[in-house]
Amino acid sequence: MKPTNDNSYIYITEQKEYIDRMRADNEGYAAENGQRRRAYVLTFGCQQNEADSEKIKGMACDMGYVLTDTPKDADLIIVNTCAVREHAEQKALSFIGEYKHLKAKKPELLIGVCGCMVSQAHRQNELKNSNPYVDFIFGTSSLHLLPQIICEKISKGKRIYYPFSENTEVAECIPIKRESTYRAWVSIMYGCNNFCSYCIVPYVRGRERSRKKEEIIAEVSSLINDGYKDITLLGQNVNSYGKSEGFDYDFADLLAELANLAPEREYKIRFMTSHPKDATHKLIDVMAENSEHIAQHFHLPMQSGSDRILKIMNRHYDIERYLKSVDYMRSVMPDIALTTDIIVGFPGETEEDFECTLEMLRRVKFDMIFSFIYSPRKDTPAAAMEDQIPANVKSERFNRLLAVQNAISLEKNKPFENKTVRVLCDGPSKNNENVFSGRSDGNKIVFFDGDSDDIGRFIDIDIYRGDTFALYGTKATK
Ligand code: SAH
Ligand code: SF4
Ligand code: F3S
Repeated sequence: MKPTNDNSYIYITEQKEYIDRMRADNEGYAAENGQRRRAYVLTFGCQQNEADSEKIKGMACDMGYVLTDTPKDADLIIVNTCAVREHAEQKALSFIGEYKHLKAKKPELLIGVCGCMVSQAHRQNELKNSNPYVDFIFGTSSLHLLPQIICEKISKGKRIYYPFSENTEVAECIPIKRESTYRAWVSIMYGCNNFCSYCIVPYVRGRERSRKKEEIIAEVSSLINDGYKDITLLGQNVNSYGKSEGFDYDFADLLAELANLAPEREYKIRFMTSHPKDATHKLIDVMAENSEHIAQHFHLPMQSGSDRILKIMNRHYDIERYLKSVDYMRSVMPDIALTTDIIVGFPGETEEDFECTLEMLRRVKFDMIFSFIYSPRKDTPAAAMEDQIPANVKSERFNRLLAVQNAISLEKNKPFENKTVRVLCDGPSKNNENVFSGRSDGNKIVFFDGDSDDIGRFIDIDIYRGDTFALYGTKATK
């Protein structure tokens, strides 16, 4: 990929000097000690963070580290944090707290913290003051500077802070060490302009900025060539792609091109997360027309079924509009899998508002929902609203929501019984290594009698049971 002169896009060639310097240092260490220095990366949060961690790992490998899954063996630990709910922050803080003991045993261990949590000034200060063994902290806007940050830490000996900065370029050419050889994340846009009143993301990820089409096409093409079968395009509002830049192509155009890159190959493109305000008919039509290469699954966060609450959430759509999108999707893709996000207990949510949400679940019949108890985020408008909902009311509503949805999920999965479903096989399931799991086109979990040759392949599964959370089947004999 050629560097361009456009200054909102940077190509991280200037990091090469630091990468080379670290690699020489790490090679010297390996020659002396008979083993390489090891890097451990711990990730919290959403797929965007997973994708960022694959870049952190890519840079670490280029710097001459080998990756480890065991923090106590590591010479470099990086914690990539999330801030979306209090629980995510507390979890990261507790892991970071544990690493103090590792540092005490191995003083040369380097510990870095990055991601959304430390892109908030108060959290960065907290770590500065309470966790003196953390060597460097960098916000989401400085991810691509990791080699430079590590070199600075080593050469200056001081702790290094790269606070989050709002105005950030799109960094290209960062090396990526992917977790899987057949499923891949491809970030196509970063940041968010929407400022939903409950949400921290716009403050910790900055404004929307999109990669150029040529870069995305090149990345997806090479993934398909390398045998990747399932490619997820990522963005906080993936379907708002290119709007801030004023590109003369939009997300639907991009998707159509990606679906036609290799007609003869079996691969699927997915995308998340979409904002309902940009769920256009054009996009839905592109999905319907390219069902062979675009997964027939739409994740469309609704958040609440009450227009009153949606307005206070600053979501820019009402239920009528949301339903129109859903109805149109189903008119052109009758079998589309629909999933959503719901927040329970937003400030001021009345029993009546909550009933509207339950009513919407019954009306739309999502295949699955991701539900969250509202968590006040510092300095967001909703955190300062009166009428915060007591914890017991929130959890009681949360349980009712799940009960309603579980019955619907079961109702949606039953009709798969005695049908054949094409599945991308992931391998032995977590709880039982004799049972394999995979994902269907609609992203449903499917359990079956696989074997290791199936991993990373599409296979047909005859479903004998459709349950609330998964489908169960056996390999089709044909
Ligand atoms: N950009 C995406 C996803 C953002 S975060 C979108 O617009 O939908 C993923 C989900 O976390 C959100 O959809 C929302 O349901 C939930 N969420 C965000 N902030 C939250 C908060 N303060 N408390 C509880 N859930 C929250
Ligand atoms: Fe958060 Fe709303 Fe942006 Fe999604 S669209 S990241 S919920 S502010
Ligand atoms: Fe969390 Fe940041 Fe993602 S706040 S949900 S890791 S964008």
